[in-house]
Amino acid sequence: MALKRKSKQFKWHRKHLLGLRELSAEEITYILDTAEGFQQISTRSVKKAPPLRGRVVVNLFFEDSTRTRNSFALAASRLSADVIEFTKKASSVSKGETLLDTAKNLEAMGIDIVVVRHNAGGASRFLSRSINACVINAGDGFCEHPTQALLDVYTIRKLKGTLKGLKIAIVGDIAHSRVARSDMWAMTKLGAEVIFVGPPTLMPGQVEQLPVTVSYSLDEVIEKVDVINMLRIQFERLGGNPFPSVREYSHYFGLTVERMKKAKPDILVMHPGPINRGLEMESEVADGSNSVILEQVKNGLAVRMAVLFLVNQAAAQKG
Ligand code: NCD
Repeated sequence: MALKRKSKQFKWHRKHLLGLRELSAEEITYILDTAEGFQQISTRSVKKAPPLRGRVVVNLFFEDSTRTRNSFALAASRLSADVIEFTKKASSVSKGETLLDTAKNLEAMGIDIVVVRHNAGGASRFLSRSINACVINAGDGFCEHPTQALLDVYTIRKLKGTLKGLKIAIVGDIAHSRVARSDMWAMTKLGAEVIFVGPPTLMPGQVEQLPVTVSYSLDEVIEKVDVINMLRIQFERLGGNPFPSVREYSHYFGLTVERMKKAKPDILVMHPGPINRGLEMESEVADGSNSVILEQVKNGLAVRMAVLFLVNQAAAQKG
């Protein structure tokens, strides 16, 4: 009897969320189901719940961000946590303090959860091994951006019912995109087929070892897919010139009104933001009826509430 219950009842045990590669489909689904519960709070007149009352969440952002940082701050405050905002420019980091020093100092103030964004891959993992607080990765280098991918799959599941059997194109600057990597893990684990689309110069090294197919032609792929996720060209991370000109890139890989005519009528158009309008996507498409970009932002809040809630619960259980 006890055994039976144990196998049926899933128990979340992670006090850190560092990436989706290491998560099972069951764990990802559990986060999405938890987020569904939190979505309702946003529709109430009093948009607060108490689970993180008395907890301190630090937004530790070493890279610029508006969407993700604000979304985490709002998610934490909706769960009644106290939130400390830390940005590189307004801190001792500009005086040379290291990631670890900064985190140790914040920890000495009694923080419980660190939400960290850093340009170095592995920064959040390093932090999770060095401090006692829960660590949530809000984007590390080119590696992972788990909550973005969770909100992407949440949005798809909500609008399409399931990810099983869907064909999803992720288009553009895959090489420099942590979103593409986290999306790939989440989407394939939930049963979708992922196609990376872009010029060869923007494909990651050893792409053949990843659970995706690759295409260098958006025109060949557009008519087949149920979802298309357009990535921003990460100009700040480009080493050389991966394409001859921005115009040429747009011509082959931009999501234009013309190209959309070939797409399935119910295709979901996604973008993690911020959009370079007119480059990876025309404004008419970004604001068009297939676009779910603002829905993604809305769902991000519920997903981040779920993640904050679950890591806190796991930490409390571990004592
Ligand atoms: C993404 C990021 O920072 O990795 N944006 C985001 O989280 N809203 C994608 C991007 O910057 O293009």
